Amino acid sequence: MQIPRHLKIGAGMAGVGVFGILFGWVLFPTILKSQLKKEMALSKKTDVRAMWETIPFALSFKVEWKEKLEIEENEEDDTIMYKRRDTFYFRPELSGPGLTGEEIIVMPHILMISIATIVNRDKPAMLNMIGKAFNGIFDGPEHVFMNVKALDILFRGYKINCARTEFAPKAVCTALKKEIADSLIIEPNNQYRFSLFGMRNGTIDSHVITVKRGINNVMDVGKVVAIDGKTEQEIWRDTCNRFEGTDGTVFPPFLTVNDRLESFSTDLCRPFKPWYQKKTSYNGIKTNRYIANIGDFANDPDLQCFCDTPDTCPPKGTMDMMKCMKAPMYASLPHYLDCDPAVQSKVKGLNPDDNQHGIQIDFEPVSIVI
Ligand SMILES: *[C@@H]1O[C@H](CO)[C@@H](O)[C@H](O)[C@H]1NC(C)=O
Repeated sequence: MQIPRHLKIGAGMAGVGVFGILFGWVLFPTILKSQLKKEMALSKKTDVRAMWETIPFALSFKVEWKEKLEIEENEEDDTIMYKRRDTFYFRPELSGPGLTGEEIIVMPHILMISIATIVNRDKPAMLNMIGKAFNGIFDGPEHVFMNVKALDILFRGYKINCARTEFAPKAVCTALKKEIADSLIIEPNNQYRFSLFGMRNGTIDSHVITVKRGINNVMDVGKVVAIDGKTEQEIWRDTCNRFEGTDGTVFPPFLTVNDRLESFSTDLCRPFKPWYQKKTSYNGIKTNRYIANIGDFANDPDLQCFCDTPDTCPPKGTMDMMKCMKAPMYASLPHYLDCDPAVQSKVKGLNPDDNQHGIQIDFEPVSIVI
């Protein structure tokens, strides 16, 4: 297809098959205007700026709408500070045929496993009490899996009965209210509800992100320079604490297939750097496909600083989220795609598939048409 010479907007698309615990990392279409560098910067007049503020279409997290608020500019540093608000809409037509979100799924009971793991680590003598508490607040669970409706665990919340008056359940409920208030809806009569994304829906994220506007140097556009005023993280070792790449909502123009699409994920406290895979097209627009995975920390010198020591890295394809999320969890791609076969072999019934479970971004580089 011939792209018009003055094509103003080329929308790429993100087939981002992202999953995982709070894996809200979404890279998506970038809107680019050809040739004129100043059009790419986030100065007030540009189309790109308007789109950066409120992406004019829903994203392919299949449920997401992203906005930026409380925007403040700093002319001197050529930066913008903002907060984010994500709104999620369930779109049955993009789910599997016939799925409504009311289906009951079976998954590890995240709360029970997290609480037990942390208590076992910090206060093993209290494990017995924890067992009693679970019987009270989760209605006598028979195993460590939960049967829960998909929309409940994602958004509406899974019920925790904190009306119990016995000591053990009360103590655990008090701890939950203190530690994971972010993920709890508290209803009358001490009924709590826990969900993975519900409390994020439509609420303004408290983090303040500072990015470059790219007016001085367009190649810096969208680059994350600070979060909450800090220019580095304080959770990993060495260079892993750096903010690298953009906020994922805009990328510099003129990227070649040798460049990576660098962006920083606040959910995973690390940058991702998808690499070029092949040429693709989206609605007739020529695009480049970039792919990414979690990585192999033990064997990738750039990623070793995410481990406490180079010898204590998690298995290939997994990432320990304890330091980032303060929860005893690992992140991986679905079905342990691109993971150490030893990890995959421990679970029956997995069918990792690049097309269904991989992270793929179809990206429209600047349309310089001759
Ligand atoms: C998210 O909140 C909006 C309103 O703010 C609501 O319309 C929508 O249904 C909620 N999304 C989900 C998945 O619950």
